[in-house]
Amino acid sequence: MVPSRSSILSILVVLLLSPFIVSLPIQDRFLKCLSKYSDTSFPFSTVLYTPQNSSFTTVLQSSAQNLRFTSPSVPKPEFIFTPLQESHIQAVVICSKQLGIHLRVRSGGHDYEGLSYVSEIEKPFVVVDLAKLRSISVDIEHNSAWVQVGVTNGELYYRISEKSKTHGFPAGTCTSLGMGGHISGGAYGAMLRKYGLGADNVVDAHLIDVHGRLLNRKLMGEDLFWAIRGGAGGSFGIVTAWKLKLVPVPSTVTVFTVTKTLEQGATKILYRWQEIADKLDEDLFIKVLIQTANVTSQGKRTIATSYNSLFLGDARRLLQIMQRSFPELGLTRKDCIETNWINSTVFMALLQNNTPPEVFLQRKDPNRRYFKAKSDYAKKPVSEKALEGLWEKLFEVESPLVVFTPYGGMMSQISESQTPFPHRKGTKFMILYYTGWQDAKENVAKHIDWTRMVYNYMKPYVSKNPREAYANYRDLDLGMNNNSNTSFVEASAFGTKYFKDNFYRLVHVKTKVDPDNFFRHEQSIPPLPLHMR
Ligand SMILES: Cc1cc2nc3c(=O)[nH]c(=O)nc-3n(C[C@H](O)[C@H](O)[C@H](O)COP(=O)(O)OP(=O)(O)OC[C@H]3O[C@@H](n4cnc5c(N)ncnc54)[C@H](O)[C@@H]3O)c2cc1C
Ligand SMILES: *[C@@H]1O[C@H](CO)[C@@H](O)[C@H](O)[C@H]1NC(C)=O
Ligand SMILES: *[C@@H]1O[C@H](CO)[C@@H](O)[C@H](O)[C@H]1NC(C)=O
Ligand SMILES: *[C@@H]1O[C@H](CO)[C@@H](O)[C@H](O)[C@H]1NC(C)=O
Ligand SMILES: *[C@@H]1O[C@H](CO)[C@@H](O)[C@H](O)[C@H]1NC(C)=O
Ligand SMILES: *[C@@H]1O[C@H](CO)[C@@H](O)[C@H](O)[C@H]1NC(C)=O
Repeated sequence: MVPSRSSILSILVVLLLSPFIVSLPIQDRFLKCLSKYSDTSFPFSTVLYTPQNSSFTTVLQSSAQNLRFTSPSVPKPEFIFTPLQESHIQAVVICSKQLGIHLRVRSGGHDYEGLSYVSEIEKPFVVVDLAKLRSISVDIEHNSAWVQVGVTNGELYYRISEKSKTHGFPAGTCTSLGMGGHISGGAYGAMLRKYGLGADNVVDAHLIDVHGRLLNRKLMGEDLFWAIRGGAGGSFGIVTAWKLKLVPVPSTVTVFTVTKTLEQGATKILYRWQEIADKLDEDLFIKVLIQTANVTSQGKRTIATSYNSLFLGDARRLLQIMQRSFPELGLTRKDCIETNWINSTVFMALLQNNTPPEVFLQRKDPNRRYFKAKSDYAKKPVSEKALEGLWEKLFEVESPLVVFTPYGGMMSQISESQTPFPHRKGTKFMILYYTGWQDAKENVAKHIDWTRMVYNYMKPYVSKNPREAYANYRDLDLGMNNNSNTSFVEASAFGTKYFKDNFYRLVHVKTKVDPDNFFRHEQSIPPLPLHMR
C-alpha cells in the first residue's frame, strides 16, 4: 500500500515535533494541559513547585509526618502541585492521565509509610498536596459540617467549639491529622465507644473520579460512597470534602491520666483492664499507653502503664462507674479534671497542660519523629505471663510505645460490612506497637527489626485468620502491590488484614470505577485482572 500524502505529512510532523515535545519539562507540559482543561485563566505556575523553586523542600516537608521519608536518599517528586479549588483537581486528574504522570495525593501527610508523598517504585511521580483546601462550614442547626480535606481534625474540633459547646465530632486523638486520609481509613478517637468512627459519621462527600468528574453521594452511588468511608485513601479517586454528622457532647466532660508501674502492680491491673475495657459504660473511654521508665536514678528500668481517659459526663458519675467496674485502678476525685469537650481534645492529644485549643489553628506538630509502627487486634485478654514477656521486649529498645485502645460500645453495634472497616463485634481492643526516634543517624533497621520482633512475639495472643490490622496504621510489611502490575493475589495479603471480606467488595468497586488502576500506590485496592472480570 502506498502511504497517502497526509499520512506522510503527519509522520513528518510527529518526527519533527516529538523531540521538542518530549524535551519540554514535564511541569511545562502539565501546566499547558491544565490551562486547556481548566476554564479559569488561573496562573497555575504560582501553585506548582519544582526542585528549582527555593521553597520546594519546605513545601514537601511541610506535613511529612514520618521523618524517615524526608531524608535526601528518598525519591522526590518531579513537582508538587497545590490546588486551591476543586476545578484545579479535576484538571489535574485529566492532565496526569493524558501525560501518563504517576500521582500521589496528600492531605495531612500522616501516612505511616509516607505513601502520600513518596513513591519508591514508580518513577517519576508528582505530589498533589491538598493542604490549601481548608474551608469548614459548621451548621449547628442541622448538626452537620462540610469540611474540605486539607483541614486537620484539630481545626475541625476548634471550629465546632466556636459555634457550640455541646457539639463534637468523633475522630482522632492526635490533632494534626488531615481529614482526607484520616476519614478515608476509618478515624478513631476518644469517642469511638459512644459514636463509632469518623467514617461512620459521614453523610455525603465530594470526590473527583478518574474521569475528572466531581461527584457527590447521589452521583457516585452507594457502592462507591461505601468504599470511600474506610477503604483507605488513594484507591478510588480524590476526595475533596466530607459532610459530617456532628454528635452531642455534654457541657462538662472529665479527663484523667493515672500511671501504674510494675512496682505498683501494673501487670495485674492491665489484665483486669483487658477484661472490662470494652464492656464499660459507653460514655467512658480508657486507653493505655505503655512505655519504659526509670525506677531510680541508678538506671533500674520499669514499665509505666498510663490510663488516659475521656468520660462524657461529670467526675461524680465517673467515680461511681469506676468504683463499680474498675476499682483496681484506684481512681480518686483528685485525678479527675472536669472541663469542656474542646479542652478535653487538647488533653487527649497529650499536649502540654493549659495549651489553649487555638493551637490547633497553627496546624503544627512539634513532635515529628522518625518512626516505624504496626497494629493488631485482640479478641481476648493477653495473659499476665504473656504481658511479662512483652515487657522484656520493651526493654530491648530505647523509647518504645505500645498503646491498647478499647473497642466495644457502638463499635460492636455496627455490622462488619456496614463500612469497609471490619474490626467490630468481638474486638476487645486495638494494639499499636511504635518506636520513634529523633536522631537522623539512628540505625533504622534496628527499630524496624524491633517492631517485627514484637509483632512475631504477639502472634499467639491476637486475632488470627486473618491477623487483622488498622488500614490507617499503614504497614508495608503486610504486603505490597508489585508496581503498576498490581496483583489481586498479592494485594489480598494486606487487603484481608485491613478489611477482612470487605476487601473483595472493595476490589469489585475499584474494578467498576477505576478499571485501569490510575489511582494506585503500594497498598491501594487493585482492580480484578482482565481474565477474572
Ligand atoms: C502521629 C500520628 C497520630 C495518629 N493518630 C491517629 C488517631 O488518633 N486516630 C486514627 O484513626 N488515626 C491516627 N493516625 C493515623 C492517621 O489516621 C492516618 O495516617 C491517616 O491516613 C492520615 O491522614 P492524612 O491526610 O494526614 O495523611 P496523608 O499521608 O495525606 O494520606 C494518607 C493516605 O490517604 C491518601 N489520601 C490523602 N488525601 C486523600 C484524599 N483527599 N482523597 C483520597 N486519598 C487521599 C494518601 O494518598 C495516602 O495514601 C495517626 C497517625 C500519626 C502519624
Ligand atoms: C517556581 O519558579 C518558577 C520559575 O521561576 C516560577 O514561575 C513559579 O511561579 C515558581 N513557583 C512558585 C510556587 O513560586
Ligand atoms: C533513664 O536513665 C537513663 C540512664 O540513666 C537515661 O539515659 C534516660 O534518659 C532516662 N530515661 C528517662 C525517661 O528519664
Ligand atoms: C480551657 O482551657 C483554656 C486554656 O487553657 C482555659 O483558659 C479555660 O478556662 C479552659 N476551660 C475550661 C472549661 O476548663
Ligand atoms: C513484579 O513485576 C515484575 C515485572 O513487572 C516481575 O519481574 C517481578 O517478578 C514481579 N514480582 C513479583 C513478586 O511478582
Ligand atoms: C505481572 O506480574 C506477574 C507475576 O506477579 C507476571 O506473571 C506478569 O508477567 C507481570 N506482567 C507485567 C506486564 O509485567
